[in-house]
Amino acid sequence: MTATRIDGKVFAAQVREQVARHVATLKDQHAITPGLAVVLVGEDPASQVYVRSKGKQTVEVGMKSVEHRLDADTSEAELLALIAHLNADDSIHGILVQLPLPGHLNEDLVINAIDPAKDVDGFHISNVGLLGTGQKSMVPCTPLGCLMLLRDHHGSLSGLSAVVIGRSNIVGKPMAQLLLGDSCTVTIAHSRTRDLRDVVRQADIVVAAVGRAQMVPGDWIKPGASVIDVGINRIEAPEKGAGKTRLVGDCDYDSCAQTAGAITPVPGGVGPMTIACLLANTVTACCRANGLDEPKGLTA
Ligand code: GUN
Repeated sequence: MTATRIDGKVFAAQVREQVARHVATLKDQHAITPGLAVVLVGEDPASQVYVRSKGKQTVEVGMKSVEHRLDADTSEAELLALIAHLNADDSIHGILVQLPLPGHLNEDLVINAIDPAKDVDGFHISNVGLLGTGQKSMVPCTPLGCLMLLRDHHGSLSGLSAVVIGRSNIVGKPMAQLLLGDSCTVTIAHSRTRDLRDVVRQADIVVAAVGRAQMVPGDWIKPGASVIDVGINRIEAPEKGAGKTRLVGDCDYDSCAQTAGAITPVPGGVGPMTIACLLANTVTACCRANGLDEPKGLTA
């Protein structure tokens, strides 16, 4: 069997179009422009790339984009003051503080200072609790993107067995909650899981989010299963020339595609969905803040 390739690039473009349509309606009918503020502390090169991309896509869908770039030695008090300012700004509906923060800043303290209604990352402890208890919340972007891809492929996920490999707060845990919310039977596997191969092999849905290049081989995958690969790992690629590298996922694409029914590639799978879902969350937050109907299909 050769798996269906789930094209996250195409799907993310559709999500952005849907967001752009909703933004246009908010402007035309209510004179409201959704606003997203992104805060970057320091000069981590990967974070700078992400933040630039977020700003560009925010503007492309018609929303207001505000970027705050702070020095690496910014104090916690200064950062908290900026967040308080953004919390109070009615033209800002979403606030994202790019992680990781420099070591002297307490990430939990900073994230929990964001107004939960503007927490478009879904990392605030209130949103984590709301998601865990099946209540309306802001949902972390990467797991939301994975859920959208799975729903699109399967229709209903009810009764399917799902294994999430990885237990991070950003992906693994919220992913498991979302799958449970869609009535999957969910297992969270991690680095201490015994007989990981056997655990993965009984799953109809595998979400790999561990950050280890190509660690899941095709013979771990149940025939016909859906494989969602969240990993983005850079490895050496001597076949492309000396010193060259390429991106791979946490799953070995070629062998997994032989067994799976559907699989996301890396790059071009889950990756593009994350920013698309950030835009979706911002428009959702804007609608909620103004007591308006939320766009359908863009939330969990
Ligand atoms: N750094 C890597 N991924 C993310 C994300 O989804 N949100 C934030 N705030 N920082 C990140």
